[in-house]
Amino acid sequence: MPLVTSKEMFKKAYEGGYAIGAFNVNNMEIVQAITEACKEEKAPVILQVSKGARAYANHTYLVKLVEAAVIECPEIPIVLHLDHGPDFETCKSCIDGGFTSVMIDASSKPFAENIEITRKVVEYAHAHGVVVEAELGTLAGIEDEVKVEAGLASYTRPEEVEEFVSKTGCDSLAIAIGTSHGAYKFKPGTKPQLRFDVLHECEKRLPGFPIVLHGSSSVPQNYVAMINEFGGAMPGAIGVPEDQLREAARSAVCKINIDSDLRLAMTGTIRKFFCEHPDKFDPREYLKPARANIKELVRHKLVDVLGCNGKA
Ligand code: G3H
Ligand code: 13P
Ligand code: ZN
Repeated sequence: MPLVTSKEMFKKAYEGGYAIGAFNVNNMEIVQAITEACKEEKAPVILQVSKGARAYANHTYLVKLVEAAVIECPEIPIVLHLDHGPDFETCKSCIDGGFTSVMIDASSKPFAENIEITRKVVEYAHAHGVVVEAELGTLAGIEDEVKVEAGLASYTRPEEVEEFVSKTGCDSLAIAIGTSHGAYKFKPGTKPQLRFDVLHECEKRLPGFPIVLHGSSSVPQNYVAMINEFGGAMPGAIGVPEDQLREAARSAVCKINIDSDLRLAMTGTIRKFFCEHPDKFDPREYLKPARANIKELVRHKLVDVLGCNGKA
């Protein structure tokens, strides 16, 4: 089937009590690993591209890689989504360039300005059959070139969500409930806890409306250990506990964004390979096990965290 929007996917996920995985893609091996796992597990999937990914790999290469996955995996629905679109022009370029979904992230702007920018993107996107994710609240961590200090992050204010959604016409809403971008989400020694009270309050005010969670990597400790064992230095890298994400997936959360975990799997595997085979220099030899480990990690997310296996 051709690329789809997330409309139908989210409706089924909402009703079925599971979430769709949204995985960031930057190169061929990552696209292959994610879509092969989804194909084998019969899972719908969102492949998302950030501004940084477009700068790194080029828009056309990424679109063509995703189109190749669509051809190779005709039995699963695939969405091509812009992650953290910073402005109208970037969203327009992706809408004109074959994406079926865009995120406009004006969450750092004042409320009224966020509404204004989001509404402009929604008007253009809907006129072209594309859906829009928007964001209210600020996550800590690094997203694209923007670094938000933990102290400056703010939870979504539930009392704002109805006005925001009705005035913008957005199709899904990313909210801030304690997740954050990157590999250092919680202080070592503290107990990671998402604000389910904020989520449930938003859910109550927006019945049937799809909620999105960014910054939802769990930072698998086996890969952090692998990185540290083979020459890396990532002390205190901690993510969101997977049982809390599973709980979120059962609620109005229909899309869960996972990027850092895949990067950790890739980096750990390649570091280990180089240490164990110092004489090797063929990229295919070290990218092959990296791709295989990303695929198994994605399979685990689909089955044990998102619950979207068998839903394609
Ligand atoms: O939230 C950001 C995503 O993890 C993408 O990261 O900007 O390094 O491509 P990136
Ligand atoms: P992580 O850094 O937790 O993987 O978050 C990814 C994300 O939110 C992409 O938009
Ligand atoms: Zn994000």
